[in-house]
Parts: sequence; structure tokens; C-alpha cells
Amino acid sequence: MRRKLAAGNWKMNGGSVELGEIRTLMGRAATRQTDMLICPPATLIDRMRALLGDAPMAVGGQDCHTATSGAHTGDISAAMLVDAGASHVIIGHSERRQDHGETDATVRAKTTAAWNAGLIAVICIGETLQERENGQTLDVIGAQLSGSIPDEMTPATTVIAYEPVWAIGTGLTPSLEQIAEVHDFIRDQLGARFADGADGVRLLYGGSVKPSNAADIFAVSNVDGALVGGASLKAADFGAIIDAL
Ligand code: G3H
Repeated sequence: MRRKLAAGNWKMNGGSVELGEIRTLMGRAATRQTDMLICPPATLIDRMRALLGDAPMAVGGQDCHTATSGAHTGDISAAMLVDAGASHVIIGHSERRQDHGETDATVRAKTTAAWNAGLIAVICIGETLQERENGQTLDVIGAQLSGSIPDEMTPATTVIAYEPVWAIGTGLTPSLEQIAEVHDFIRDQLGARFADGADGVRLLYGGSVKPSNAADIFAVSNVDGALVGGASLKAADFGAIIDAL
């Protein structure tokens, strides 16, 4: 049985003031049978971890470098995220792939770096609108899966987030049938490649998840939770999404 996971990605949003939003979620974390993860900007990780104390909410980074240290101005290593209090890191988000030219090979190398530092990798994949309209969705997802995930994957170290690029921040979502098709495909692909443990890997859906659609999406087969962007910035909305899990 896979535990549900509600993950929030604050992206490049939030500062000291927004940290207070977390307080209202701490009580929920203690009473729910759902795992919770917040990935704030790197500048807030250590303060968020300190604020959360023993509350069962994980804190994660939004990216890490492939190297452990060195002359990489502006970058952050996986070990630095751990040092700041992170237990997870998002890797290969479509905004990183688009804005920073990250390829599947980059994502694979960053995932290995994250694992070596002891982080759980939340690996993101998803098709563009053009790819969907061209009928290439499953081909693209299959290629991203095989290219982005190292051979050493285990359920304990890896979460996979399916995020259609065209659904991110747009208010658009795939139909429930489309989400099911992709999630079932991912599960099958993992099963074909990884003999042991593939069934334990959690598959998140991401892209315009909000309180009004969360319950329907969470009822879809092989959806084990969500990676939430905009709606994770408001505790009331994120709390409602958690309650729908
Ligand atoms: O990482 C989160 C996703 O990009 C989804 O963002 O919920 O604002 O559409 P969104």
C-alpha cells in the first residue's frame, strides 16, 4: 500500500512573511495519514525546517547541481540542501527543462547526486501541448522515464511526478481518463524495467491541482498524490487539497 503524498512547490515565491502560512498546516500534518512535503525557495529551507520542528512535514529543495561542490556560481548542491534541513528535492521540473535547458541526461545525473547525498528525488516528467496534440504523449513520457531515471531507483528514494507542461499554472487539466492513461502507463513502464519495488514508487499528478478538482484527481488509478504549485502558496487551499487525499 503506497502512502499518499501531498507536495507543494512554492517555485520562486515566498519570503519570511509567507513562512507563517506553514503554521496552520502543522496540526493537519499531525493528524493525517498523508505524507506532506513543502519545497520552498532555497533561502527558506532552514527556517522552514526549524519552524516545523518535529511536525511530520518534509521540506525539500527545487533543484540541485550534479556536482558535490565547486565553482558553480549560483548553484546549490544536494549536500547543501541536506545541510539546510531538506529531505527531498524536485528534479527535472519542466520550468528547469525549459528555462535552463535541462535534458533527461541532466535529470538523471542530478538524481544520482541527490541520492548520493541522501535525498529523495521527486522526478518530473510531462508532455507539451504540441506533443499531446500530435499523439506523442506516451512516447514522450516513455522516453523521459527511461532517460531520466537511473537504474538504481527504489521506492524509498524516488517519487515521480507527471506534470503535463500545458497544465502547469494554466487552470487547464487533462481529463481524468487522460491522467489515468499516463499514470497506468508509467506504472507499467516501471514494472517492465525495475523488477523489484516498482509498484511501491509513488506517482504524483501535477498541473493546476486545486481544492475543487483534487478529490476527483486523487480517485484516479495510480495517482498517489499531487505536486501542487500555485495552490500550495495559500495554506487554506493546500490544506483543502490535503484533506481530499
Ligand atoms: O510543481 C508544480 C507544478 O508545476 C504545478 O503548478 O499547480 O501552479 O499548476 P500549478
